[in-house]
Amino acid sequence: MSGAREDGVGRARVSVLLDADWAAGSLVADVRRGLGSAPLRLPPKWLYDDVGSDLFDQITRLPEYYPTEAERAILTDRAAEIVTASGATTVVELGSGTSDKTRTLLDAFAAADRLARFVPIDVSEGTLRAAAEELCARYPRARVEAIVGDFTLHLGQLPPNDPGAQRLVAFLGGTIGNFYVEERAAFLGALADSLDAGDTLLLGTDLVKDADRLVAAYHDPGGVTDRFVRNSLAVLNRELGADFDTGAFAYIPFWDPHLERMDLRLRAESPQRVRIPGAGLDLELAVGEEIQVEISAKFRLPGIAGELAAAGFDVVTSWTDAGHDYALTLARRR
Ligand code: SAH
Ligand code: TRP
Repeated sequence: MSGAREDGVGRARVSVLLDADWAAGSLVADVRRGLGSAPLRLPPKWLYDDVGSDLFDQITRLPEYYPTEAERAILTDRAAEIVTASGATTVVELGSGTSDKTRTLLDAFAAADRLARFVPIDVSEGTLRAAAEELCARYPRARVEAIVGDFTLHLGQLPPNDPGAQRLVAFLGGTIGNFYVEERAAFLGALADSLDAGDTLLLGTDLVKDADRLVAAYHDPGGVTDRFVRNSLAVLNRELGADFDTGAFAYIPFWDPHLERMDLRLRAESPQRVRIPGAGLDLELAVGEEIQVEISAKFRLPGIAGELAAAGFDVVTSWTDAGHDYALTLARRR
C-alpha cells in the first residue's frame, strides 16, 4: 500500500498499513453503516483499542473462559505434528494480539529449525509492537515482520512465499466466529486467494456445547467481559466525540440456539439521545433498544470442513481437546 510506513522495533520490522487518518475514516464508515439503521451493530475490530486489548488479555485468564486453555492444550499436544504436516517455514498469524499461545507453535517450528519468518498481523498497534519485540528476542534466527493492518482488508498484502517455501497461516482464538456467516465465506475466499497451492491454514474454532457453559464464558462474575464490551462505547466517545452514557446500558449476553452463536449486546436502560458528531449521526434509543456489539459463532466439525472446502481448502486434520470443547483444524490450500 502506498503511504505504508516501516520502521524497526529492536530487530522486528513493523509495517503500518493503518495510519491514524485511515483508521478514523474506516471507523466513521463502520459507525454509519452499523448504527445508521436497525439492527444496530458495531464491527468487532473497534473493541481492541489499548484498553480493550488489555481487557481481552484478562478475559483469556478467566476460569470461565475455557477456549484459551483448550486451544493451548491442543497446540501443546500437536505442535510438532503441525510443523511436519504443514511443511511451512513462514508462520503468518491473523489477529495475533499478544501471540501468547502461538509461542507453543513457534517453539516447535524453531526446535525443528524450520522458523525462517513470523508475520503477526493485528489492528491493535501497541499490543502488536510489544509482542513483536518479545518474539524477536525469543527467536533470534527468525525474521519477525509485523503488520499493523486489518485482516478483512489487507490479506492481499501478506508477504509472498520465500522461493520454494510454504506458509502456515494461524487464525486462533475462535476469532473467525466473530464474523457473520456471509462475511466468513468472503474472508475464507479472500484468504484462499491470497495463498499459494500447498500453503496451510491452522484455524481455531470454539465448538457448540451446553448453553450454560457458553453463557458463563461471556458473563464472568467479576465483570471483565462486561467492561470489555462496554468499552466499545468509550471508543466511540473518544474517537468520534460521541456522548454515550456507558453506564446507561446493561450488558446482555445470550446463546442463540438457532444460529448457534453467542450474541453480545448492550441494552439501553432508559431512553437515550446520543450524538455522534464525528459520524454525523444522532441516535434515539428507546428503553430496551439494543446494540449488537459482537457475535461469537460456535462450530461443529462437519460444518468447518464444509466451509473450508467451499473456500478452496482441504482439511488435513482436525484435533479437539480432551473435553471436545474446542477444535484446531489444519487445512491445505488446493
Ligand atoms: N489470537 C489471540 C487474540 C484473539 S482476540 C488469541 O487467540 O487469544 C482477536 C484479535 O484480533 C485482537 O488482538 C484484535 O486486535 C484483532 N483483530 C480484531 N479484528 C481485526 C481485524 N479486522 N484485523 C486485524 N486484527 C483484528
Ligand atoms: N474471539 C473471542 C470469542 O469470540 C472474542 C471474545 C472473547 C469476546 N470474549 C468476548 C468478544 C466477549 C466479545 C465479548 O470468544
